[in-house]
Amino acid sequence: MKLLELDLSAFKEPVVIHKGLDDVYIKESTICFIDGEASRLFYRGYSIKDLADNSTFEETAYLLIYGWLPTRPQLEEFRYRLESYRPLEAGVMQLIRSFPATSDPMDAVRTAISALALYDRQPLTDSIDSNIDKGLRILAKTPTIIAAFDRLRNGRQPILPKPGLSHAAGLLYMLTGNEPDPYEARIMDVALILHAEHEMNASAFSCTVTASTLADMYSTMTSGICTLRGPLHGGANQAALRAVLEVGDPSNAESHVADALAQKKRIMGFGHRVYKTWDPRYLMLKKLGGELASKKGRTKLFETALAIEASALKHLAGSQIFPNIDSYSGVVFHMLGIPVDLFTPVFAMSRIAGWTAHVIEYLQSNRLIRPKALYVGKLGLPYIPIDARVPQ
Ligand code: CMC
Repeated sequence: MKLLELDLSAFKEPVVIHKGLDDVYIKESTICFIDGEASRLFYRGYSIKDLADNSTFEETAYLLIYGWLPTRPQLEEFRYRLESYRPLEAGVMQLIRSFPATSDPMDAVRTAISALALYDRQPLTDSIDSNIDKGLRILAKTPTIIAAFDRLRNGRQPILPKPGLSHAAGLLYMLTGNEPDPYEARIMDVALILHAEHEMNASAFSCTVTASTLADMYSTMTSGICTLRGPLHGGANQAALRAVLEVGDPSNAESHVADALAQKKRIMGFGHRVYKTWDPRYLMLKKLGGELASKKGRTKLFETALAIEASALKHLAGSQIFPNIDSYSGVVFHMLGIPVDLFTPVFAMSRIAGWTAHVIEYLQSNRLIRPKALYVGKLGLPYIPIDARVPQ
């Protein structure tokens, strides 16, 4: 049987395939600037170091979403709004209660965030204000979802959010039932600031694609969660810390790294599409990790992470592969008492601020995102009746 005569080369000739969309710009933005050559990162023009040293997660989230640093009354109103949104609707809590204790927390968070739409009387309204409001609802409720799921899977009852606690302290409180000491709450707060935004990363892009169809914020944020989960993106923090725990002692680091690379495995917490040098967030988390380790007497854990880093840098020298945020975020979260499989949900409870900012920005001059795929298959194949087919 002769195939359809169609010269596909005519379609192929001018086509450049942007696999991975490296260096493709999808919009102009005023949200985040990454200088991947000079190890610099800015949110809305403010350096990440200034924000980590001086700001709070709430203030940074406001900055990302609205575009300016809030005045004191604006920040108070914002904190109050988040606080009022933190409790979960009874139906959502009931749903979380029904999850198997063995569920992966990212599955639990994804399902619960998606379910929040069911309890919003107008999930589809799409003005800027209503989208911001929905983004804030999702942001505020995510720590409550994470903690409720974690307590229930461990046979304990969920704890209600405590008024007056920050996003960071509130999570630690709802996980344990104890208010964290102010030093640890501040470390958590800084870690959330560092995770809040990172330009057009895979999950922000995923949110933007969904929003570009004019889908609602719940669908949009759910897409972000789905995309964040993978080990090449937000899931790397769990994998990196698991490697530290598995290596167990600085003296085992060299053989671990050498074996992994010999087997063509990736060193988790290393490499980045944009940074071709040190990720500035890594530098800050490493410092916090060192401080926490001394305070908590966990120097062996920290020294093991340092030894993995040193070996990886030695083996990867000349490759432009450097540590990224995930090489020490897990070390910090672990020393704050957060279970390893909650690391990626915790990343999400911060990054929702950045996703919301991107969605609001993109929708102000929306264009449906619809790229193309270059067809290289056959055309005009004869349809074969089922009983006449041979297995392929
Ligand atoms: N360990 C070993 N080799 C690596 C690593 C690594 N961590 N990262 C990249 N490479 C190698 C890779 O094997 C490839 O080698 P070759 O050309 O010989 O096949 C080369 O570098 C280029 O890799 P790529 O995947 O094309 O490069 P990319 O710029 O797309 O990589 C990355 C970005 C994050 C996917 C990758 O570095 C990686 O897989 N890292 C480990 C996972 C990780 O830490 N992810 C968190 C990223 S930062 C936080 C976030 O965005 O969520």
